Amino acid sequence: MNQVNAKRLRSDLESLARIGAVPREGITRTAFSTEDSLARGWYRDRVEEAGLRLELDGLGNMVVCDLASAQEVPAVWSGSHLDTVPNGGAFDGAVGAVAALECLRRVTELKLELPRPLRAVVFSDEEGNYASLLGSSGMRHGFSRAELAAMVGRDGDRLLDALAVWPWSTGLPTETRVDPARIHAFIELHIEQGARLEAAKTDIGIVTAIVGLGSAHVTFIGDVDHAGTTKMTARRDALVGAAEFIARMPDIPRAVGSDCVATAGWMRLHPNVANVVPGRAEVSLDFRDLSRANVERMGDELEQLARRIAAERSLEVRWNAHPVISPAPLDEQVQSAIGDAAAGRGLSSMRLPSGAGHDSQNMAPLAPTGMIFIPSVGGRSHSPAELTHWPDIVNGANVLLDTMIRLAGS
Ligand code: GLV
Ligand code: MN
Ligand code: MN
Repeated sequence: MNQVNAKRLRSDLESLARIGAVPREGITRTAFSTEDSLARGWYRDRVEEAGLRLELDGLGNMVVCDLASAQEVPAVWSGSHLDTVPNGGAFDGAVGAVAALECLRRVTELKLELPRPLRAVVFSDEEGNYASLLGSSGMRHGFSRAELAAMVGRDGDRLLDALAVWPWSTGLPTETRVDPARIHAFIELHIEQGARLEAAKTDIGIVTAIVGLGSAHVTFIGDVDHAGTTKMTARRDALVGAAEFIARMPDIPRAVGSDCVATAGWMRLHPNVANVVPGRAEVSLDFRDLSRANVERMGDELEQLARRIAAERSLEVRWNAHPVISPAPLDEQVQSAIGDAAAGRGLSSMRLPSGAGHDSQNMAPLAPTGMIFIPSVGGRSHSPAELTHWPDIVNGANVLLDTMIRLAGS
């Protein structure tokens, strides 16, 4: 039976985990940062060491090919992301990105003659510093210049400015759509980021569908005033409006559906000074469900709530919703191929949906797509506490290898 090189896989993931690591504070490799660039340099070195070729597009997506196969031949693609959330973990994205490369390396080393070539891919900005699933969205539908010009990162910087000095992109950022004919199938290995596999003592998750993602940026606007001399009745305090909105926001997902979730995870205040009444409060919203209708309903109701609270408090409100990323049912045949690969190795498996967003949901409209999950200890993720045990990573990578080989022959 073919096996990934478990020692190399672990040593690669350990090396990668040092890039952007701060003791006890996790890993920060946000998209288009110095640390993201260092991680890409590290990845490029691994690609070259293996005698493979790296191609870039205008948003910095990286695709790895062997030297022999032509671009146009429909290939089996696999990959994930190297960027992290601020203070994230060592496994989200990294496992799938490095395991996909390991599968290409192994197939090349073993000189396996497959009917179709394999590709490994690293998507840009999966974690949505500038836009949720930025790189894979660019591959799926592309972005206009105006859409890219409107994208601003968490620190207030513009995507186009970041791209202008980014060494890991070539060509136009508006020309990143991938011809679906190039992809025979896509498969992503990822940590579960929930606790279902661990609770069920199951080795492998076969993902049935990925949640839809709604997001919006809401700004409450009042008056900047003196904290000592402005009477409580005379204030238009933007933060008090935003705080009331955030406190009432959880009622909406609860009312819309039992699996619906909504999060206000980021906020910016102006002027953000202790003795000044806040004049502007900006809040991010992220809301998800497996049903697109529920995501849209949450968006509508969150907007109404923001407008109602603003009216009650004599504030102005600006609501800027981003396009919903559709939920993605995953391909039945790829699910079966993963199940067969797991069974062939004597590993237990179960089917489950993903509550996290993944680049796979942008690949699903382009080609038959599947995801393999491996257990997350305590279900923790987007946190320095994120942990997946090495034997589970090796199991997942071997199931990925088998599945890619099966799909390359189908
Ligand atoms: C990506 O990790 C997401 O689910 O936001
Ligand atoms: Mn993530
Ligand atoms: Mn991820």
